[in-house]
Amino acid sequence: MLSLNRFFVTIFAVKYLIQRIMTKILLSLAAVALLATGCTKKSEKALVLYYSETGSTESVAQELQKQLGADIEKIEAVVPYSGNFQETIERSRREMQNGETPALKPLKSKLANYDVIFVGYPIWFGTYAMPIATLVKENDFEGKTIVPFCTFGSGGLKSSTEALRKALPKATVKTGYGVRAARVAAAGKELDRFLKENGYVAGTVEPLPDYSAQQPVTDEEAAIFDAACSNYQFPLGTPVTVGKRSTADGTDYKFTAKSQGMDGTESTSTIYVTVGKGAKPEFTEVVR
Ligand SMILES: Cc1cc2nc3c(=O)[nH]c(=O)nc-3n(C[C@H](O)[C@H](O)[C@H](O)COP(=O)(O)O)c2cc1C
Repeated sequence: MLSLNRFFVTIFAVKYLIQRIMTKILLSLAAVALLATGCTKKSEKALVLYYSETGSTESVAQELQKQLGADIEKIEAVVPYSGNFQETIERSRREMQNGETPALKPLKSKLANYDVIFVGYPIWFGTYAMPIATLVKENDFEGKTIVPFCTFGSGGLKSSTEALRKALPKATVKTGYGVRAARVAAAGKELDRFLKENGYVAGTVEPLPDYSAQQPVTDEEAAIFDAACSNYQFPLGTPVTVGKRSTADGTDYKFTAKSQGMDGTESTSTIYVTVGKGAKPEFTEVVR
């Protein structure tokens, strides 16, 4: 009887020991698996990372954050730009000429936690603002998807996107979104389309028709061009050809315009104009 008891005790002890060992092995395997996957759990969310000096890019960044349900962080220079147009022109021009980039405060966000980062900036001298020059110098964004967004006086999305692609060869820099500072109120609706068309949020939008083939401008179209462009602080040139499309909101025009640079060389740009139903013509972007 006693030896039978001892037999069962021994069996239970061995079973218990085997269970402990198995649990330990399984836990270790799980730990190794976690380490192998980099340990960090990537956020499902995107990050909206932006610089803004006078608030236009900030308002687009906030709208993006709302529509994406994303995390958001503002980039800040250690020595802030003054917010005064002329002073910023002078400081950033000096920095560009000297090959200097402004020191930034450390980011709070862990970039490693995000696959998709929306990078926002004002256009300065036809490209991304100087604090973004520092950001891309200090981070290679390897393996990340970068979606640029910007605000500008007249344009700069295409040129700044090309500059980002050059600066970040290890990242995938997508086609982004840009809006004139004078039209940031339109950003909510335009972003809704941009995010859905590109699959960043769920949902569909009615596709916009293509522009008609470019034709020489009529007097009536030249008047629309003038109404949209003549109150801008810099001359935007003379319209030569135009393509059109009708949308649910009105009519869009795609003008080509010729202008002369300060050095006398002639260049052609594409200028997009929109005329909402019952609204005044306004230009949306100049693409050089
Ligand atoms: C130094 C400087 C350079 C600028 N250069 C351009 C430019 O080349 N093209 C343009 O369309 N707007 C230019 N702008 C206008 C800004 O892009 C525009 O005001 C922008 O919306 C400001 O964004 P923020 O309010 O987020 O700072 C420039 C502004 C500054 C201060």
